[in-house]
Amino acid sequence: MGAHIVGSGVSLPPTIVTNDQLATIMDTSDEWIVKRSGVRQRHIASPGVGSAELAAEAVVNAVANAGLQPGDVDALISATMTPDHYAPGNAPLIQDRAGLGRVGSFEIRQQCAGFLYGLDMADMLLTTGRADTVVVVGAEVHRGYMPYGDSMDILLGLSDADPTPEDIALANDGRAWSVLFGDGAGALVLQRGTETSGVLASTLHSDGTLFDLIHVPGPGFINYPWSTTEQIDDGLHQPQMNGAELFRQAVRLMPESVIAVLDASPYELGDLDLIVAHQANQRILDGIAKQLGVSSEVVASNIANYGNTTAATLPLLFHDCKTNNRVPEGTLLAFTAFGAGAHWGSVLYREPDA
Ligand SMILES: CC(C)(COP(=O)(O)OP(=O)(O)OC[C@H]1O[C@@H](n2cnc3c(N)ncnc32)[C@H](O)[C@@H]1OP(=O)(O)O)[C@@H](O)C(=O)NCCC(=O)NCCS
Repeated sequence: MGAHIVGSGVSLPPTIVTNDQLATIMDTSDEWIVKRSGVRQRHIASPGVGSAELAAEAVVNAVANAGLQPGDVDALISATMTPDHYAPGNAPLIQDRAGLGRVGSFEIRQQCAGFLYGLDMADMLLTTGRADTVVVVGAEVHRGYMPYGDSMDILLGLSDADPTPEDIALANDGRAWSVLFGDGAGALVLQRGTETSGVLASTLHSDGTLFDLIHVPGPGFINYPWSTTEQIDDGLHQPQMNGAELFRQAVRLMPESVIAVLDASPYELGDLDLIVAHQANQRILDGIAKQLGVSSEVVASNIANYGNTTAATLPLLFHDCKTNNRVPEGTLLAFTAFGAGAHWGSVLYREPDA
C-alpha cells in the first residue's frame, strides 16, 4: 500500500547568482567551482523572504499540480535547516499561508536528509490510515549563513559599491562551503497507493559519531544566553565543515542504502531506472554511479542550476525529472540522501501505471 506521489511543486527565488558573480566578492572562479562541485549558479532569496514563504508557494503549486484543493490535505510535514524563526518553526506558518486548514503539521530536522525522512513518515501516515493526503515540503533560505557581509547586497543587485577588503577576507574564509549552497523549496503530495507501486521500501540511518562532519555550533541552549554576539564574531553561526570526510562518507553510505532498499524489495539493481540523490557535489553523484556500477545517466543531476538546496533538493530534482519526462509510468527509482547529523538512507519508489 505504498504512498503514491500525486503532485509536485517548487518555488525558487528569482535572483540567480552565477559563479562569475561570486568571483567578484571573493577569490574564486567559475572554473574552480564547476570542476570541484558541478555548481554553475544558485538562487538566493531577497531580504525579507524566508523559507516558510518559499515552502508555502511550493505546497500551493504541488497541491494544484495534483488537481486537489488545499483543504484536501490532512497532514503537513516540513523539513528545513533554516526556519524563519528558531521557534516554533515553519510548519504552522506554511499550514496557514498555504490555506491547508487546521491540519496537523510538524517539522523535522534532518538537514540534507530531511526530505527523505519526511517521505518515509508520509508513507507511514498513509499506510497506517492516519491520513489520506499528506504534503511533504523541503525549503531552505541559506542566505543568513552566508559569510559575505555587505557583499550580499552586491550579489542581490541591491548595491553597486565595491566589496570592502574586510568583506573579501570574510568571504574567502568561507569559500570552501558557501559556494555550494542555494535557496529554494519543493513539495510533493502523497496519497495511499497499491501493493506494487508507490513507496516500496525504505531505510533510514543516523550516526551521531559523525556529528562534527558538518554542524553549526553557534546559537543553542547549551549556551547562556543561548545566542551571543561573540558567536557571530567567531563565525560559529556558520556551518563548520570537514568537506573531504563528508565526501567520503556520502559516496559510501548512499550507495549502501540504495542496495539495502533494493534487497528489501522484489527488484534488483539492474531494474533501477533512476536515482534521485541529494545534490551536494557532482563528483559525489559520479561516485554513487561508480560505486553502484550504473551509468551516470541513471543518477539524475540538476546541481548546476541550484547548488545544494539541503532539504529542498529531493523534491526539486523529482519535479525536474517529472517535468522532463524522466519518470514515465512504471519507473523504478531510488531517492537517497546523506546529510548533517549524520542522517542518511534511501526510499525505493515505483511510479504507478496508468
Ligand atoms: C567542499 C569540496 C567541494 C572541496 O573540494 P576539494 O576538492 O576537497 O577541495 P579542497 O577543500 O581540498 O581545496 C582545494 C584547494 O582549493 C581551495 N578552495 C576552496 N574553496 C575554493 C573556492 N571556492 N574557490 C577557489 N579555491 C577554493 C582551497 O583553499 C584549497 O587550496 P590549497 O590547496 O591551496 O590549500 C568537497 O570536499 C565537497 O564537496 N565535500 C562535500 C561537501 C558536502 O557534501 N557538503 C554538504 C553536506 S550535506
